[in-house]
Amino acid sequence: MNEIFARIEELRQKEIRTWGTLTTQAALGMHRRCELDLLGMIARDIKAAQYIELGCGAGYGLNAVKTLRPDCVADGFESTAVLPINQGFSIHRMDVFSPEFLERVSHLVDTKPLFVYTDNGDKRKELQIMSSFIHEGDIIGTHDWPNEVVDEKFMLDMGFVVCDEYEEYIRDCLSLQRFWRRA
Ligand SMILES: C[S@@+](CC[C@H](N)C(=O)[O-])C[C@H]1O[C@@H](n2cnc3c(N)ncnc32)[C@H](O)[C@@H]1O
Repeated sequence: MNEIFARIEELRQKEIRTWGTLTTQAALGMHRRCELDLLGMIARDIKAAQYIELGCGAGYGLNAVKTLRPDCVADGFESTAVLPINQGFSIHRMDVFSPEFLERVSHLVDTKPLFVYTDNGDKRKELQIMSSFIHEGDIIGTHDWPNEVVDEKFMLDMGFVVCDEYEEYIRDCLSLQRFWRRA
């Protein structure tokens, strides 16, 4: 256990040296800087044309994607009233488990390549809802893996594979994220 705490402290210090600050506890925001950067890197790698985030808070993830992939259209869905951290993306105030969400999101998912990120209250359900929109060349991912999504197999059962190319970065940063693409 001491080894894990030492590793976390080492990463904290590295992040402070690299970015000057940590973004861990922003209001309605949550990600560490390395996690936000990974969203941008993935959007850039796959040349994402559309990014959709479920449970986007004030838009830290949306902002990270727009920073590294400015051509990508970024839409977030958030059930509470938030003040977006900037204007480069859209935040729709909506419950992602409502029929209105499906109606709204169905107009966005045909823009490919598509990058979907789920960071809401029921990640397994969100991944399942959004999985039907993911095709070859698209990526879907989640935050708080495996803390909240404990079933290692269910995405594989739906015909996805883990995006291995990001696993080393995720391990190095002790990031709580996972990303999949269609097999
Ligand atoms: C951990 S925060 C996400 C922060 C965000 N991803 C970011 O980049 O800053 C989870 C968010 O999901 C929102 N949320 C929870 N249940 C929701 C629902 N059913 N529909 C839409 N948003 C929801 C919460 O209000 C909260 O802002």
